[in-house]
Amino acid sequence: MTAQSRAANDISSPNDLDAWWLPFTANRSFKQRPRMIARAKDMYYYTPDGKAVIDGAAGLWCCNAGHNRDEITAAIQAQAQELDYSPAFQFGHAGGFAIASRIAQLAPGDLNHVFFCNSGSEAVDTALKVALAYWNVKGQGSRTRLIGRERGYHGVGFGGISVGGIVKNRQFFGSLLAGVDHLPHTYNREQQAFTKGEPEWGAHLADELERIVALHDASTIAAVIVEPMPGSTGVLPAPKGYLKRLREICDKYGILLIFDEVITGFGRLGTAFAAERYGVIPDMITFAKGVNSGTVPMGGVLVRQGIYDAFMKGPENMIELFHGYTYSGHPLACAAALAAQDIYRDEKLFERAKTLEPVWADAIHSLKGLPNVLDIRSIGLVGAIDLASRPDAVGARAFEAMDRGFHEHGLMMRITGDTIALSPPLIVTEDQIGEIVDKLAKVIKAVA
Ligand SMILES: Cc1ncc(COP(=O)(O)O)c(C=O)c1O
Repeated sequence: MTAQSRAANDISSPNDLDAWWLPFTANRSFKQRPRMIARAKDMYYYTPDGKAVIDGAAGLWCCNAGHNRDEITAAIQAQAQELDYSPAFQFGHAGGFAIASRIAQLAPGDLNHVFFCNSGSEAVDTALKVALAYWNVKGQGSRTRLIGRERGYHGVGFGGISVGGIVKNRQFFGSLLAGVDHLPHTYNREQQAFTKGEPEWGAHLADELERIVALHDASTIAAVIVEPMPGSTGVLPAPKGYLKRLREICDKYGILLIFDEVITGFGRLGTAFAAERYGVIPDMITFAKGVNSGTVPMGGVLVRQGIYDAFMKGPENMIELFHGYTYSGHPLACAAALAAQDIYRDEKLFERAKTLEPVWADAIHSLKGLPNVLDIRSIGLVGAIDLASRPDAVGARAFEAMDRGFHEHGLMMRITGDTIALSPPLIVTEDQIGEIVDKLAKVIKAVA
């Protein structure tokens, strides 16, 4: 530990925790019993007093290559010494073009142009803006309506919360959320409980798009956005055939289809993008998180050739899309992404996720029968366990599980409501899967 990092870890008085208002966090509870992390390596986090915590969540669904990988660290250091920042408005740098090409090569079909931003939320808002602008340049400016889905999570920008379908993320920010409609979510416990992979039941729910089109008319609808596997709401794998059906209906009415792959991108479901797993080519894919294994903020949107081409018109000195961020394609983020993509390729981590999927599924589903377990879902290297809520205290049981998991059992997990979500780095070994599930079993019993 360097003198600098020692100082940063020296939280000696509770007042030291006062200033940082943590995002999506129960701040008062955290500050009474902080879950502090000091360093990380591969599959483990370490607390300031050196206790190992196995990472069952890839940080926040993002550290797919595991933590503090030497190759990524070295690439970031070298880049910082060579070119710390360069503007992406009217200027470029080699790393940005190199990583855009790498990502385009990974994507299916003609999804071959990349617009960079710095987070999943920005990626979603960018994709929605591209959709609206696309219809304008195509002379169909009446296509302004955006269709999301109940229980969808598309980040926290105004666009993302408008198409998103998680009530708590929407209820306080209402006035700007007009001009959207929502498909129904695809979860039905009676029909789907304890499914491994894609449930058999639910493809017909895509037909609800027909109803929405009949209500608003296709000429007013710009795009449909869905997560191929809604993650933040508690992991709801797409029913078999659902996404294909959605694509067909979008094609029928000329509606753009956007896959939000901020979680599913870069191997989480055993393929580079979930679009590949489902054999469905959307018009745009949003990505972030795993693009550089969570090391430097980065997001982006992949668009199909036809969308890019539609903008490349008019005088050549004119800006084609009035959109972008100071840090779009930041050199450090690009260098980290190139190094992460090398690791994914060289260690075949996407294939590894696919090979491990049945092992992971069996391990997670072995928790069936433990107290309060209502449902277990798994797909790729993702799993979720729904726990029964305590009377009049929704979320309390899972919150205690997360807290005790960290402090008492050395396990990091994600929670949403009373659902525990797991998504370990793709480097996880079979033994470590066993370690995660053993610890989780203890935690679930402890919060019974
Ligand atoms: C599907 C999806 N879209 C968008 C986001 C927002 O990403 P960020 O937190 O980087 O803004 C997330 C974050 O979890 C996500 O899961």
